[in-house]
This record gives sequence, C-alpha cells and structure tokens, in this order.
Amino acid sequence: MVQGVNNQNIELNKDWLQGYVDDWVKFYSKHTKEGELASYIPLLTQSNKEHLGISITGVDGFTIESGNVDIPFTIQSISKVFTFIVACMERGVSYVLDRVDVEPTGAAFNSIMHLEVKQLKKPFNPFVNAGAITVTSLLNGKTSDEKLEPIFQLMETILGYRPRLNQEVFESEKETSIRNRAIGYYLVEIGSLESELDLTLETYFKQCSIEVCIKDLARLGTILANDGKDTDSDQEIIPKQVARLAKALMLTCGMYDASGKFAAYVGIPAKSGVSGGIIAVAPPRTRNENLPFLEGCGIGVYGPALDKQGNSIAGIKLLRHIAKQWDLSIF
Ligand code: DON
Repeated sequence: MVQGVNNQNIELNKDWLQGYVDDWVKFYSKHTKEGELASYIPLLTQSNKEHLGISITGVDGFTIESGNVDIPFTIQSISKVFTFIVACMERGVSYVLDRVDVEPTGAAFNSIMHLEVKQLKKPFNPFVNAGAITVTSLLNGKTSDEKLEPIFQLMETILGYRPRLNQEVFESEKETSIRNRAIGYYLVEIGSLESELDLTLETYFKQCSIEVCIKDLARLGTILANDGKDTDSDQEIIPKQVARLAKALMLTCGMYDASGKFAAYVGIPAKSGVSGGIIAVAPPRTRNENLPFLEGCGIGVYGPALDKQGNSIAGIKLLRHIAKQWDLSIF
C-alpha cells in the first residue's frame, strides 16, 4: 500500500514508489503464462509472451517505469484513438459522428454481427474494426501515406520524434486480412466508406503497424489527461471537445467486450491493441493529497500475452492493482 507519499515531495519518494511498482510488475508477470500471443497476424507470434512493462508519466512530467520498458511494438488498435482524433480535427466532430456511432457493442473487436443483424447504417463505434475502417476512410488524402501523414505529425508533435512504420508487420497483416476484408466489403455495400476499399484497408493496416514503446503511450496519454493541451507549453494540440470524446469512447468501448469490467474494476479510459499494448489515461484528481500523479497521468503498458478479448492479460491485472492502490478511478 502506498501511504504517506506527499505529492510535493514526490522526487524525494521516487525510489520508494519505484520499489512498489517494481514489486507489482514482478508479481503480475506470472499471469503472462495464462494468455496467448495474437497469431492471426503471423509476425506477432515472434513477441516474447513473458514480457510485461509499464510506463507512467504525470502531467507534471514525473515518470515511473518498470519491467520490459524498451520493447518496440506495433500500436495496432490503439491507433484507432488517434485516427478518430485526426478525422474529427480534419472533418469536424458532427461529420464523423454522422458516420460512426458512440455505442459499445459487447461483441468482439472484429465482429460484423451487429451491423448485419440490426441492419445498421453506421457502425457502433470507432474502436470496433467496422467503425475504425469507416473512420480511416474519412481521412483526407489520395494515398495511404497522405492519409496517415497528419497522424504521424500529431505523434511527432507529442513525442518529439516521428515513429516508424513496421513494414514487416504491415505486410504480415495485409496478407492475412480476410476478416477485415469481409468487414470492408460489407461497409462498401452499406455505403459507409468514403474512400476506395483497397486504399482504406492499406491505410488501416499501416496505422496499426506504427511502432511505439510504452514510454510513447504514456506520453500520448498525458496529452489526453490534460484535455488535449501540451503539458509543457499549455498549447492546444487536440481540441478539448475531441480529447474528451476520445476519452469517453475509450472508457465505454476501448477494451471491446471487456470494457464494462475494465470501467468497473479499473475505472479509467483505456485502449488496447492485439500486440499487447494498452494506453490508459488518469485525469487529475483532488481527493487524496497523499497519492502520486494527482495532476493526472498517461500510462503505457506492454504485455503481449492476451486474454480471450484480445487484451493484455497481465497488463489489465497490473492496471487494476495500480488503480486501486493509487485511487485512479474516475468514479
Ligand atoms: O484489425 C486488426 O486485426 C488489427 N490490426 C488491430 C486489432 C486490434 O488491435 C484489436 N485489439 N485488441
């Protein structure tokens, strides 16, 4: 239990906090054995199933990291948060929300069922694949690289470097994308896509193949925790309305058919990806001065062993523990 940590003296207590987080990562690492690597994208099976790491960056810049912190991995579905943000910035929030809804599905990320069974004219939300592919089709640009450029630029502004595209993972997914092609053809049939299917899917597979590490996810998370403003300059990077909408969607839909449990037991906006990454955002809280990261923080987790829903099995357990210890829940 972290007790008696005064935020004013946080630097003085860094070693102490670090010790706790190291213990927690070590403890929860054993749960990696219970999960499986994503195998439908063949290259993801090359990850080390036993890896688990966490990076937490406060809005004030204070950072704690532990475990396997330097492993690069592809962002996968976490990219959906940033394509949604960029689409809203390029086309306007109401334009995007006319084409994709904001309701959780309770179904798997790559499910097509609701669209067909309920005869929907727009996908349920931007984080299930049907919604994400629709949002990707809304991005400005005639080529996949043109469409993705503003996403790379947004990340470069926040991270201070331009992330690379992992070409091997992109090709691995492109070659094995039968389900996403099926979803894509269905979206073409109901008139959801604004750009041609092959271009849209190529852009979607590339956005999923952007390579990051947990420090990057934590830093991206701090901007969302800070309602879209740069934590150093206070300049607006993402409009507040868009940052808040993205967080609401992360809370309700970010962990797919485990979003309800994550909201109940962890209680902060988060988004997972099948490579094992999770980005989580803890907004500022004021109720207990003796806890760290009171001004809000971004959290990046990496643990490629996944549960049935496609979320990092040990990563979720670790986040649940930290949220409880540090009272991070927004509720
Ligand atoms: O659509 C796909 O299959 C992937 N490239 C992204 C899916 C994903 O990360 C789902 N997350 N848990």
